[in-house]
Amino acid sequence: MATAILLDCDPGHDDAIALLLALASPELDLLGVTTVAGNQTLEKTTANAIRVLDFVGRGDIPVAAGADRPLIREPFVAAYVHGETGLDGPDLPPPQRAPLAQHAVDFLADRIRERKGAVTLVPTGPLTNVALLLALHPDARPERIVLMGGAIAEGNVTPAAEFNIWCDPEAAARVFASGIDVTMIGLDVTHKALFGDRHKAQLEGEVGEMVRELLAFYGAFHKEAYGWDGSPIHDAVAVAHVSHPNLVETLKRGVKIDTESELSRGRTLVDLWRRARWEPNCHVGVDIDADAFLGLLVQRLNSFA
Ligand code: RIB
Ligand code: CA
Repeated sequence: MATAILLDCDPGHDDAIALLLALASPELDLLGVTTVAGNQTLEKTTANAIRVLDFVGRGDIPVAAGADRPLIREPFVAAYVHGETGLDGPDLPPPQRAPLAQHAVDFLADRIRERKGAVTLVPTGPLTNVALLLALHPDARPERIVLMGGAIAEGNVTPAAEFNIWCDPEAAARVFASGIDVTMIGLDVTHKALFGDRHKAQLEGEVGEMVRELLAFYGAFHKEAYGWDGSPIHDAVAVAHVSHPNLVETLKRGVKIDTESELSRGRTLVDLWRRARWEPNCHVGVDIDADAFLGLLVQRLNSFA
């Protein structure tokens, strides 16, 4: 029986690859895609989600647009990573359809109610839509949330914080305190699995070529910023963790979000050694079988060929 998932994303190069992985995973039943402002504006992240679905002929997957800004923080887009379109690199045609008229938060609630909660929500952008879902539809809670975000160690948008959490720390604080079964796939894990030239060389077909073009742009940022000869496909790790739970090792720990300090805004404070005796509220990713993940990703992307 496939696991029903909802992908809440901000495409974004790695979101786009995560979406392709979800579509190519028979273990998963993708009920729909919702979008949020993050890597780029809501208009662009929504268009990008539809453009990717158009590219693989999946006009059947509903797309609903959500929050166009964080709960209270000023909007901030990561054009320095994902470009002006949010998906720079391939020359993808404009979206062939509009998103649903329904707001993403109401769309998520309806799908979760239909499944009586038996849905895994996979957020791969700022958690604004998820926080709004919890606040506006308290009766529509997913049984599990597997999110890409946070870091035990250093951040990527500041020394303290990872981008998705930093963008909307108030939203993240609500999600981590919700009592729902939350898994955090953070930078400590995603930075260990870099998609490099040898993986790109294995990609086949039109989808493989499109992904190579995505990674040519996305990889240039990681080469310049970190000196790496490969890119972390952050969001795809969250999707893979749902279909293949043995790829990422997790520990149940207490996690709190800094919403007070400007210097450490959006930090995910992880009580890794249980010194603080915080209530364990999260399965925290601590290690990954990088070769297995990267091999799965190549194999699944090639299944479109
Ligand atoms: O910090 C990495 C995360 O921020 C990824 O989800 C990437 O797409 C951006 O949203
Ligand atoms: Ca993302």
